[in-house]
Amino acid sequence: MLVIGSYNRDTVLRVARFPKPGETLAATGMDRFHGGKGSNQAVAAARAGAEVTFAAAVGADAAGVAARDLWAAEGIAPAPIPPRDGTPTGEALILLDAAGENEIVIVAGANGTLTPMEALAGLPGAAIVLAQLETPVEATLAAFEAARRAGARTLLNAAPAQTLPPALLAATDILIVNETEAERLAGRGGTPEALAAVLLPLVAEGVVLTAGATGAHWAGRDGSRLHAAPPPVSVRDSTGAGDAFTGAFAAALAEGMGIPAALRRGVVAGALACRVLGAVPSLPRRAEILAAGG
Ligand code: RIB
Ligand code: NA
Repeated sequence: MLVIGSYNRDTVLRVARFPKPGETLAATGMDRFHGGKGSNQAVAAARAGAEVTFAAAVGADAAGVAARDLWAAEGIAPAPIPPRDGTPTGEALILLDAAGENEIVIVAGANGTLTPMEALAGLPGAAIVLAQLETPVEATLAAFEAARRAGARTLLNAAPAQTLPPALLAATDILIVNETEAERLAGRGGTPEALAAVLLPLVAEGVVLTAGATGAHWAGRDGSRLHAAPPPVSVRDSTGAGDAFTGAFAAALAEGMGIPAALRRGVVAGALACRVLGAVPSLPRRAEILAAGG
């Protein structure tokens, strides 16, 4: 499968609680991890068993070298995209509270320079193309339209939340969103069923609505409706849980599994990713996912 997306260097500041506006707070600790929704999802899919090509732009800096080392270690083939001179690798600042909830601020850096040509270079042979919203929408749109012509299935994880050109949704087979992202795209709030009803006509195959500890809902254009509940876990850090879900779900589809089994696999992977601090360190491997019922 082809993943198109971001790489960020994550700086995690652990706090007892989130600061109020104007307040200065002392962190209880700091860690640095590999991150970025695209790279996290590429790693999650590879660990779930998929053969992954990853199209991403990093800076010509130490973080960019570390990113390439990560992909090599995970068996991910990077698309041939040169590191950017003078534009730094993407960064994320993550506040992590005692309950394992986070607040994230990202700086796009090199992620913002990914071009349409670069995004679609890894397309030949891919049956699944997966993207998020931390890289330019024009690049994803070009890749999705080319993927459609090539008969590949397109998966859009519309994270972080933003409104989108209708053409991108029209080129999307399966949309994967959490509640905030669904509300942004739908332009209204509501139950998972109500949000899915608004979003479903905009895409070709179906909508996955992820709902944290209560699992994930599926609504298909064919009328199918499903819910998958996660196994109970103790939450240390939910960062990367959405990426674990999306990567494992996409990998299951790439393997030829149907939506019900892929949804279950994704939900189990997402739950397992909540147990461990950091995004990439928490992304479960295939054997762990299967052992936990995925
Ligand atoms: O989904 C988690 C990711 O979001 C983090 O790794 C951070 O880099 C942000 O992109
Ligand atoms: Na995590």
